[in-house]
Amino acid sequence: MTELEKLRADCLGCERCQLCETRTNVVFGVGPEDARVMFIGEGPGENEDLQGEPFVGRAGKLLDDMLELIGLDRTKVYIANMVKCRPPKNRDPLPGEQAACAPWLERQLELIDPAIIVCLGRIAAMRFIKPDFKITREHGQWFELDGRRVMALYHPAALLRDPRRRPETFDDLKRLQAAIEQL
Ligand code: URA
Repeated sequence: MTELEKLRADCLGCERCQLCETRTNVVFGVGPEDARVMFIGEGPGENEDLQGEPFVGRAGKLLDDMLELIGLDRTKVYIANMVKCRPPKNRDPLPGEQAACAPWLERQLELIDPAIIVCLGRIAAMRFIKPDFKITREHGQWFELDGRRVMALYHPAALLRDPRRRPETFDDLKRLQAAIEQL
């Protein structure tokens, strides 16, 4: 078993916060252990909770399309979430739940050691870029964290709600593609 597989096995039994009481499955993350690019969403929704995989609902289908636009797919990138268990009724994860879950993601990051982190939406950007991150102004910009390049994109669910943001996201994806080509 690799370290990441061990971490996953431990995480599947996690009871560090109350979300364990209402979850169907822990959604640990998917992708190759040596991925150079890691996408981080917010938390599992209903489909993800049922299937135990991140981004498998409508937002996930859009994420797949976004990846395809720049020649990527799920075999090439790692996809995880800030919290591993679905918050009831898809509410935002509470600060205490995020804090309880954070060590799982921290260790995942250490083990995968990606060169690029892509935050999907504001919640991940507030954690990995800065607490006062403004997604409308700062999406698509590059930041640095511990030697990694970090960018935030609009969350695919936000793009489903507001398709007018899609052209900007296309530009952001092109910037991401250019950075990946430089790796
Ligand atoms: N939204 C997220 O942030 N993560 C998922 O896994 C699915 C939807």
